[in-house]
Amino acid sequence: MRKVIIAGNWKMYKTQGEATEFLMDFVSRIDDAPENREVVLCVPFTDLTIVNKSLHGNRIRLGAQNVHWEDCGAYTGEISASMLTEMGVRYVIVGHSERRQYFGETDETVNLRLKAAQTHGLIPILCVGETKQQRDADETEQIIINQLERDLVGIDQERLVIAYEPIWAIGTGENCEVSEADRVIGLIRSRLSNPNVTIQYGGSVKPNNIDEIMAQPQIDGVLVGGASLAAADFAGIVNYK
Ligand code: 13P
Repeated sequence: MRKVIIAGNWKMYKTQGEATEFLMDFVSRIDDAPENREVVLCVPFTDLTIVNKSLHGNRIRLGAQNVHWEDCGAYTGEISASMLTEMGVRYVIVGHSERRQYFGETDETVNLRLKAAQTHGLIPILCVGETKQQRDADETEQIIINQLERDLVGIDQERLVIAYEPIWAIGTGENCEVSEADRVIGLIRSRLSNPNVTIQYGGSVKPNNIDEIMAQPQIDGVLVGGASLAAADFAGIVNYK
């Protein structure tokens, strides 16, 4: 059975005060969402403690947005997997396109981060996706296949989530047609050895398009940026029909 996972990626938004305010509003809004939907909030490192404290007794799972591959060492500015698990983190985003684009993340470092996350019992959410230029050049399939081949070397597919995030649909309001997202996610699934990996779609997911997205046969969940910052919007997504 493929698990449904609705995850928010707060990116570099929300102070601790803002995170607390969000949770006070959000938690009760998802009381009636079906139990089999896993709800994850991937928050900035500085919010992990406060969000973890507010999560006791409810169903939201804590996530981080990156992890280093070494257990410890002289890596200024980095955070290790054991530092995350100690704070109650269960999920971690790895290889988000913003890390690949702005911070020099490569498929090799993505692979190292995935391994470290799994070694320490974290479930990585691996992000893959093509740029507009690559899509226009008809390279989408090959780009995705290359990313999967390189990123997943030696990775346990029993403890893995994948998010297909077409880069041109992130934060732009420009939607990937749901049938196209479903097609690419089907392609991703066909390249995996475990048919039960949860594969999410990400890119301008909103309360008004979530029903259609989740109705697609290959799409098991969503990774939500902008719309996860407002309690009403993210709850609207979690409570999809
Ligand atoms: P938006 O939902 O803001 O397009 O961001 C998607 C994303 O990058 C989630 O990781």
